[in-house]
Order: sequence, then C-alpha cells, then structure tokens
Amino acid sequence: MNENQKKLIRGFSKLTKQAKLDWIITSFFNKTQSVYHEMSSFWLQDDKQQQIIDGFSENTVSNFILPYSVCPNLMVNDNIYCVPMVTEESSVVAAAASAAKFWLERGGFKTQILGTQKIGQVHIKWDGSFQELLDGWQVLEPAFRKTIQPLVHNMEQRGGGVKEMSWKDFTNEIPGYYQAFVKFETCDSMGANFINTILEELGKALGEHFNVLRDDQLEVIMCILSNYTPDCLVRVSVSCPVSQLKDSSIPIDAEDFASLFNTAIRIAEIDPYRATTHNKGIFNGIDAVVIATGNDFRAVEACGHTYAARSGSYSSLSHCNIEHGIFEFWMDFPMAVGTVGGLTKLHPLAQKSNELLGNPSAETLMQIIAATGLAQNFAAIRSLVTTGIQKGHMKMHLQNILQQLSAADNETELVLQHFEHHVVSFNAVRTFLQDIRNSKAAQLSN
Ligand code: MEV
Repeated sequence: MNENQKKLIRGFSKLTKQAKLDWIITSFFNKTQSVYHEMSSFWLQDDKQQQIIDGFSENTVSNFILPYSVCPNLMVNDNIYCVPMVTEESSVVAAAASAAKFWLERGGFKTQILGTQKIGQVHIKWDGSFQELLDGWQVLEPAFRKTIQPLVHNMEQRGGGVKEMSWKDFTNEIPGYYQAFVKFETCDSMGANFINTILEELGKALGEHFNVLRDDQLEVIMCILSNYTPDCLVRVSVSCPVSQLKDSSIPIDAEDFASLFNTAIRIAEIDPYRATTHNKGIFNGIDAVVIATGNDFRAVEACGHTYAARSGSYSSLSHCNIEHGIFEFWMDFPMAVGTVGGLTKLHPLAQKSNELLGNPSAETLMQIIAATGLAQNFAAIRSLVTTGIQKGHMKMHLQNILQQLSAADNETELVLQHFEHHVVSFNAVRTFLQDIRNSKAAQLSN
C-alpha cells in the first residue's frame, strides 16, 4: 500500500466514533496509544451532552476546547452586562474588560438599532424582457403569498415575515440574468432557515408560473439569503469631555491622547492595510460574543467586512470625532444574530451565555455585541498610541511559554521579575529558565 492509499477511505461517515479515531490514528499518527488517549480525553463524560455536540457536525472524533471567559462591567444604555466571550487570543478579554470599566466610569456605551431587515435573493435566467418579468410577477405575487402562508404564519404572529419583494435587472452584466430581491423580518431568530425555505418556494413558484407562460424560458440558478445585511444595523457610541479621558491606563496627557487616538482612526479610514487590522481588532470582541452565544461568526464577519468596503474602498468600521472639547467614538455595525433557533438553545453553553445576558432579544444582543466590539477597538487603539500592544501581549505570552516549559512557581516568579525589563521570546525564556535550573543543580551538587 503506498502512502496515499493509506490515507484513502470509503464509508468513513458510517464508522463509529471510536473506529473513526482508530483509523485516523493508524493512518496519520505514529504514537497510536497516546494519541487515542489524548484525543478521547476531550470527549464529554456525559454521553447525552456529547451526543448533542456531535449532532452539530459530521465525522466528529473529539471536541476542540476554547476558553470561555467573561467581560464584566459592560454598561450598555444604562444596563450592566457580564458578557460571555469565547476566544483563544490572549489579551483580548483583558482588553475588553479594561475598556468596559473605563467607559463604565464615563457613562457607558449608548446604542441604537437602526434597522433589522434581512435579505434573500433568487437568481434566475429569463429570456424575456424585464417588463414581461415584472408583469408576470404582478400576477404571481398574490398567489405566491397565499402559498407560503403556512410557512410564514408563525413568524408573522411574532411581527416578522416576508416584507418587500422587488426585481433587479443585471442583463447588461450577464445576459438573461435577473434577481428577485426579498426583504425579511425574522424577529429574534437569525433567520437563515426561514429565509432559505421561502426563497426555495419562490424559486419553485417562479419556475412553474413563467414556464407555463412561455415554455421553459425561466431557469432558477439559485435561491439563497444574502449575508450582507446593511439594514440590519446597530449604532454604538461612547463619549466624554476630552479632559475626562485621563486615567491610569493612559500614561499621557488627555489632549495628546485624544489627538493621537483620532489620528489612528483617520489612518484606518483612509488606508485599507491599516483598516483590515483595525477592524480585525473590532472582530476580536465581536466574534468572541457571537461564538459564545451560539451565533454564526462567519456570517457576521462576512457582513461586517462588506459593509466596511461599501464606499468602494475598504475602510475603518469605527470613527472618532473631537469637537468643542468632547471626545466621541462610534461605529455602525451590521449583523444578523439570533437568540432563538440555530445553536442558541441547543448548545448548553450558548444557552448559558444567553441566560447570563438576561435572555436578550436579538436586538439587545446586537447592541451588546456591538458595544463589546467598540470596547475592544478602544482598548487596542489606546494601547497602540500609548504603550504599544506588545507590553500586554507579551505578559500573557510569557505565561503561555512558562506553562509550555512546565515552570515551577518559584521559577515563574524569577522569570516574571527578569522579563519585566527584558524582551520576551520563547528562546530567551527557555535559556533563562535553563540557567536557573542549571544553577540550582550546581548548588545541590556542591
Ligand atoms: C490584535 O489581535 C488586534 C490589534 O492588532 C488590533 C489593532 O491593531 O487595532 C491590536
């Protein structure tokens, strides 16, 4: 058997979890016993809970653990939240918590929902004119709305449903290509299943209706929601007099800080290279809450980045203004998240996250998430324009290195003291630790 043949398998999905793991280990690892033990050690003790987790995906062989942290003291519209955050990046939660506390003492975060509309599209090819399509749609729409009544009834009871349906003509770009552009309200659910179900019904209805009008002249290419939801939007801001920016976390003059901060934001507004990293910092906070609450972070990321590029050039999501001695920092952030449906009630920790947040509506969750993103961004820019971020990062990184090198408590103390004044790197810490260990060994042998 050659190397590639060893890596091929048929019917993998039908194997038991144990058999899947066995096969992976014999095909891809050398140390069979220890790998099996290590990977299976992350299985949950409680079989029922493990079954729930396994049900979220396919071909599961283990669980990938990430830290579940909280950011206390986040004040949003005068309500205090302790925000759940799932992230693997050191310093993120500490930074968010520090910014939350900073703004707690200055009135907290103010938020406002600017819209909650979601979007779906049916992409078709039609060899008739745009006008014929519109005329046909006028006849079809009332009948279609009746057909989908059983599917939209519950959502309508909650105030949601299918809102506007319109058509776009893209025949100049792609011959025969038109698009049904549908607006939805999905209340407390993110709405992906609801939207896609309705869109597929619409695709079917279009095919049936238009192909009766003119034999086989309409082809449905695809029916799918758009993750770009610029009208599902939350505005978040913080503000205070410039003079009140002074704080132990800001080792420079308040005016200087405000001015540096403002310039840092301007740079992210005009330069896509900087904007990408700047927005990544916002997503450090946003994604962590989105994941902790069982929402789709890929959807939220995709939407946020498209929104950041809506002018045609990728730019900062956040903005700053200093006028009449008042510092103001804000962003408009589009996101489709839910507090019902999807993982939100199925994942035991997502459920706990929602409880921790007081079982918020989707709108309240949007506001909490946006405030966490702005807090994260504030903390990042504050560090960047004052101490630099490496100071905080390296402190956390040092802890990780110490753990990897199995440093004892007394060794840790010596290392921390030494690296207060020295540059941290894995090699430098290893060498220093080795020196401590060598000198201790020498002492013992004397
Ligand atoms: C690191 O994960 C995030 C930052 O790079 C964000 C930024 O540069 O604004 C610190």
